[in-house]
Amino acid sequence: MKHEKTLIIIKPDAMQRNLLGGIISRFERKGLRITGLKMMAIDDLKISEHYEHHKDKPFFDGLKKYMQSAPVAVMVLSGLNAVAATRLIVGPTKGYEADAGSIRGDFSMSGQCNIVHASDSAENAEKEIYRFFNEDELFEYKKIDFEFIYGEDEREG
Ligand code: CMP
Repeated sequence: MKHEKTLIIIKPDAMQRNLLGGIISRFERKGLRITGLKMMAIDDLKISEHYEHHKDKPFFDGLKKYMQSAPVAVMVLSGLNAVAATRLIVGPTKGYEADAGSIRGDFSMSGQCNIVHASDSAENAEKEIYRFFNEDELFEYKKIDFEFIYGEDEREG
């Protein structure tokens, strides 16, 4: 286990359904640190890079249209084992299969309109973070609750 960063996209359906604040709040209350946060429109280049592995799938055109239907919010979250911890909060891809209590379990009934994207590995997180953020948009700071979020032997690494 180590301290790492992950990328979250709060997708157009969440923005349209007024879920932005509630979603950010779930990550905050878990103890993840917000390291970057902004709104943006995702252009064609970023769509083709971010969903490169889905470009031949039958749902790709619909996915592109959906992701460009409204602005999104992108976030970088930091913490111990942040990639896996975040994916537990988010739940599996298809909202109708996600456990109640997860973001998708509570807010999504869809395989496409699934509210958020979360990086699936630390390696992909690194690429995804720099796809959406410049270095000067990422903030390293010590939060005053750090010593209450983590035990002594969990604060390094
Ligand atoms: P995300 O976690 O961003 O990764 C790929 C995205 O493609 C996924 O969330 C969904 O928005 C979308 N997606 C995955 N599977 C399907 C599917 N079967 N039909 C439509 N969209 C899908």
